Amino acid sequence: MFVCYFLLHTIASVAIMKINVNQILLFIIGWSLEYASEVRALIIVYESKTGFTKKYADMLASKTGLKALRVKELTKVNEEDEIIFLGWIKVGKIQGLNKVRKYNIKAVCGSGTAATAGPDTETVVARNKIEGIPFFYLQGGCYPIKDLKGMDKIVMSMFLKMLKSSKDRDEKVEESILTIENGFDGIKEENLDPVLEWLNKR
Ligand SMILES: Cc1cc2nc3c(=O)[nH]c(=O)nc-3n(C[C@H](O)[C@H](O)[C@H](O)COP(=O)(O)O)c2cc1C
Repeated sequence: MFVCYFLLHTIASVAIMKINVNQILLFIIGWSLEYASEVRALIIVYESKTGFTKKYADMLASKTGLKALRVKELTKVNEEDEIIFLGWIKVGKIQGLNKVRKYNIKAVCGSGTAATAGPDTETVVARNKIEGIPFFYLQGGCYPIKDLKGMDKIVMSMFLKMLKSSKDRDEKVEESILTIENGFDGIKEENLDPVLEWLNKR
């Protein structure tokens, strides 16, 4: 009788202890997750010269409630924070990206004038060394070439000259010439849909 009572008591104690240990473990995990989510934020960081990329960053911020910061405000970002980076594309290079490399980059968006990333997505991904990081192309826009200044104007003038002297002036080339000469605004809210879809799946 005494042995039975002893065995039952031991089993019950272990069961209770197990529950307690499990409860303690759950409490510690829950607390750690809560603490981690408090200290690690997801932040939009962007680089924009003429304002088109900024428009997308602000749009994304208002759609998601995330904070949007310029690259020059990086001091406000903790190293544990996760970043969605948006930068304008200049000769295939995403501007400002190198300044955020040491941070926890979760996705990169590049903005250019063409309908698709130029020269092509694979080249942009390789040129910017972002293999393995989700990349989204966002069609931005540009001001007419007469309003550009400095090196940007020189580079665009050379590009325009090259396009105009092209032997095969097809529809695409003609469209590029008009875009550079007259300016263009390709900003559309729906261009952010793939980014929002990716965010929702995280
Ligand atoms: C000098 C120069 C080079 C550019 N090179 C590219 C390019 O390689 N690919 C591209 O898609 N757009 C290119 N663009 C277009 C810009 O990336 C585009 O206008 C962008 O949306 C501007 O963003 P921002 O207003 O945020 O500065 C170039 C623009 C300039 C002025």
